[in-house]
Formats: sequence, structure tokens, C-alpha cells
Amino acid sequence: MAQDEIWILGATGRVGRAVAAQLAAAGVVPVLIGRDAGRLRAAAADLGLDADSKIVVASGAEAMAAEITRQRPAVVVNTIGDYAETAVLLARACMPGGHYLDQANDPAAFHRVFALHDEAVAAGSTLVVGAGFGVVGTEAIVARLCENRPVPSRVRVDTFASVAVEGGVLGPALAASIVDSLAMGGRRYDGGRLVETRLGAEVQHLTLPDGERMSSVGVPSGELIAAHRVSGAPSVSATSGLLPASLAVRAALPLLSAILRIRRVRSFAIRRMAGIKTEAAPRPRAHTWGHAVITWPDGTAREGWLRAGDAMEFTSAVAAQTALRLAAGKGRPGAHTPAAALGPDLATAAGAEFVDEVLA
Ligand SMILES: NC(=O)c1ccc[n+]([C@@H]2O[C@H](COP(=O)([O-])OP(=O)(O)OC[C@H]3O[C@@H](n4cnc5c(N)ncnc54)[C@H](OP(=O)(O)O)[C@@H]3O)[C@@H](O)[C@H]2O)c1
Repeated sequence: MAQDEIWILGATGRVGRAVAAQLAAAGVVPVLIGRDAGRLRAAAADLGLDADSKIVVASGAEAMAAEITRQRPAVVVNTIGDYAETAVLLARACMPGGHYLDQANDPAAFHRVFALHDEAVAAGSTLVVGAGFGVVGTEAIVARLCENRPVPSRVRVDTFASVAVEGGVLGPALAASIVDSLAMGGRRYDGGRLVETRLGAEVQHLTLPDGERMSSVGVPSGELIAAHRVSGAPSVSATSGLLPASLAVRAALPLLSAILRIRRVRSFAIRRMAGIKTEAAPRPRAHTWGHAVITWPDGTAREGWLRAGDAMEFTSAVAAQTALRLAAGKGRPGAHTPAAALGPDLATAAGAEFVDEVLA
């Protein structure tokens, strides 16, 4: 096994480049994996890596899995997207002994990776799903607030990402995750079971700790799955400030969701959205916020916030910290969400702060 190698799959993409830069800044030379040698070399040069630093060219997820099986890197960071399809293939390739992480945020990818738990324990591998803002920015609060307490009856988590926009095109990986999340429709946990809800039905109006008023809408997300798993609460919901909370948008969401489930419409929407040109813009607000409200059966409630800077920078810092900790052998074998595998202080190691827990 290439004991000390950390591989970044999708190293020419936004998340891949940012994670590679964070690892390089921490003194670890990442191995860049992608579909095009020229673009990988350009990415390596941007990072200030040596001209002969190792790159691996592989044409797609299956070819990447074959290279992992052949070369046995210590840790694989999967940033190629389409996680419901790619996560299991690539996580399996890491076993035995190698570790895996991704930035998945769709429930299907989470359940598929969790299904590998026993296999990963037997293989001595740690598989971390959701090493990004939304999941860590909320599950870390829930883990802290639930520490040494009985199982709560109800948990709600909310995310308010603030992201600088890189000029260019949206790209198919991000476009697919937006379309698939809308197509899935609403989800929440009720009586311990994941149940369907009307997309856009749940809306929250909150005042952030810095005084700004924000609204958020219920979405199916990795945050939902992680908050349920880390708390054990039978009733869990998750909202995001990324979807507009206006009545008109929320009224249109169920129809949009149904239309996007048609295979040809999905492909068309992803192609069109992937090509959308984005103008470079600074992040709209100084901070990114995660929020959780936990209620126990005796009626006590606690509320917590997590403050980070740019959500994309936080995501890449979480992924880099996760990779470094896994490479150092600090992971628990099995399939986990990030804070469950490595503890809630992963969030602070990635630069976030927990803000006053207020008794609700
Ligand atoms: N959970 C979170 O907090 C969070 C935050 C940000 C992003 N994300 C997710 O992370 C993923 C990556 O986002 P991004 O913004 O970095 O996307 P991006 O800029 O489009 O980069 C995607 C990278 O993956 C590669 N890739 C795409 N499809 C591939 C395939 N089938 N086989 C091999 N390589 C492939 C691309 O290579 P080419 O250059 O060859 O096309 C590119 O290097 C997305 O799914 C996004 O939704 C999650």
C-alpha cells in the first residue's frame, strides 16, 4: 500500500483544487487524479507542486476505482460528485485498509455508504460520507448538545451557507446535485422513519446571532440523515437557506420536483444548468451559519449555532482535516458521518466556532 498517499479524485474541480491546496498548506503533497493529464498538470502547477509530482489519469469512476485497487492509497477524497452512484464503487475500492471520504449531501448516497459499515469494520477502513459544510456544520452542534444527555425527542437543523462565486460555469457535478435534490421531494424523520413530505412545506424564519433575518426551507439533505444518526431522535427535520422561501417559489416546488423525476427532463435540466455562466462575486454575507434546536421528552430544549466563513472554504477545510486525521489512523473503522467518525472538534479544526448555546 502507498501508505502515505492522499488521493484527490476530481482534482481539477472547485472542491478538489481547494482540498488539494489545504493539504499542500498543511505540508502534505496530495496525489491529483482526473480525466485529463494537461489539466491535472496545470492544477499541480497552481498548487506550487513539483513538475514531476505524481498525478493519476483515469477516464471515470470505474477507472479510478481500478487504480485505487491497484495502487492502494492510504486515503481517497472523492470530489467527482454523483455520489449516489460513485461513492460505493470508490469506497469499496479503498478496502481493505484504505480510508474514504466525500462531500455527498443526498440521502441516497448516505444510505448506500452506511450499508458498507460491517464490510468496512472487517476491513479496518473508515468511510466518511458528507465531509462538507452542511453536514459537519450541523451534526457537530447536535453531537455537542446531545453529549451525556438522554436521546432527544425532536431535532431540527438549519443551514445558511454564504459562498463566494467563482467565475465560469456551474458544471455538471454541482448541477446534478441541485437537480437530484429538488427531484427527490421533501423528507423528514417521523417516528424514527424517513418519510416523504411536500417539498417546500416547512419554512423557518430565524434571526442569526449577528442580527440578520433569514428564511429557510425544508430540503432532503445529508444534514437530515446525519442529525438523525448522531442524535437518535425519532423526529428530525432539516432546512436550508439556499432555496428562496417566497410563497410563489414554495408553491411551485412540488410540481418542479415531479417534472425533474422524468429521466429525460432530468438530463436536459442538468445539461442546461451545468452550462450556466456564473460571474465572480464575493460571498454575500460575512458568515456561514449552522443551527440546531434539540428538544427532549421532558420538554427541555437547547439551541446551538456554528459560525464559519465562506461555506466552500469550510467544506474544503473539513475534507482536508478529515483526510489528515484518517491518514494519521484516527478514524473509527466503519461507515460514518464526519463528526461521528472523528468527533465534533473536526468543525473547529476546520476553522468554525461554536456560538453561545442559548436555552430555548
Ligand atoms: N457537501 C458540501 O458541502 C458540498 C460543497 C460543495 C460541493 N459539493 C459537491 O461536491 C461535488 C464537486 O463539486 P465541485 O463544485 O468541485 O464540482 P466541479 O468544479 O464541477 O468539479 C468536479 C470534478 O469532478 C470531475 N468529474 C466530474 N464527473 C466525473 C466523472 N464522471 N468521472 C471522473 N471525474 C469526474 C471533474 O473533472 P473534469 O474537469 O474532467 O470534468 C472535476 O474535476 C458536487 O457533487 C457538489 O455538489 C458538496
